[in-house]
Amino acid sequence: MEILRSNSIIQPSQTDFLPLLGTDYVEFYVGNARQAANFYKNSFGFESLAYAGPETGVKDKVSYVIRQHRLTFVLTTPLRTDNEIADHIYRHGDGVKVLALMVDDATNAWHETTKRGAVSYMAPQILSDSDGEVVVSGIETYGDTVHVFVERKNYHGLFMPGFVKWESRCKPQSTGLLYVDHCVGNVGWNQMNVWVKFYEDTMGFKNILTFDDKDISTEYSALMSKVMSNGNGYVKFPINEPAEGKKKSQVEEYLEFYQGEGVQHIAIATNNIVETVSELQNRGVEFLKIPPSYYETVLNRVGTIDEDLAPLQKLGILIDRDDEGYLLQIFSKPLQDRPTLFFEIIQRKGAKSFGKGNFKALFQALEREQDLRGNL
Ligand code: FE2
Repeated sequence: MEILRSNSIIQPSQTDFLPLLGTDYVEFYVGNARQAANFYKNSFGFESLAYAGPETGVKDKVSYVIRQHRLTFVLTTPLRTDNEIADHIYRHGDGVKVLALMVDDATNAWHETTKRGAVSYMAPQILSDSDGEVVVSGIETYGDTVHVFVERKNYHGLFMPGFVKWESRCKPQSTGLLYVDHCVGNVGWNQMNVWVKFYEDTMGFKNILTFDDKDISTEYSALMSKVMSNGNGYVKFPINEPAEGKKKSQVEEYLEFYQGEGVQHIAIATNNIVETVSELQNRGVEFLKIPPSYYETVLNRVGTIDEDLAPLQKLGILIDRDDEGYLLQIFSKPLQDRPTLFFEIIQRKGAKSFGKGNFKALFQALEREQDLRGNL
């Protein structure tokens, strides 16, 4: 059963105790940040932005910052083994460590969330250089993942104090990726409601959409999901947990290979999914394949759309509709060898939902990949 309560998240009379301005950056802990940064640059069309490492006075790690429109990724690798970054990679492989959120007041964000029960990851601290100051603070969320609150209203530098410009003659063309639409977390058995309550209690988020195992199961990988949104709707975190099915849940496979809870996918918005995905595929990004039969009936389900169906079918782009419009979406294969993190590319044409109508086709595609890995 689906419960839709979109657009009624926070009433004007209520105050949002954690006003969020959007996603600030996503930081990945990876085994080789130099190579990862170049992979994301060349395959996805990011530009080099900033760098921190031994040359800038950071002794134990290296970080490369890349950007495309309002999408900022930080790729961080440890230089030695005796630190939490190395431990994170040993356990999880490459994955997302930080979902950083832009705020007007990072000190207040930390006080408001920790006093409601969030565990502190980092007490508020001021980072400064000749371009001004950034205030950062952070709290822990599922698994080893954290939220860092970033207040940059008094900063005019490239990224953050401590980083220098990353000069590179390699300047790949943008592929039209714009910003983070939503970030999905996979949590353990019976943990979805625990984390739903965490986002409600400590961050003031609301559950705007629920998918139970009847929406997402039968003979396919079963899972349950609840979509959490902040007050203004800028930040959405769906939370998945595995459910019992005839076959192993895709969430279980993730938990096994990530060795715990973590970020399953990052959905990135584009204004022209056909152009974006054509370019990504030309650069070697691989996506889940959808059977031709999907396209024989999809327009009966979603009605008229602006796009021609042929290019959507050629690229494997999925279509879904809700009360407010429709959306186009596609899912990449995992971005590293462990079957863990992947990307979704999404173009919203009015729709505010998440593609429930595509779950069956999508999970069949996921299941085929899972089977090829021998994990079904
Ligand atoms: Fe998604």
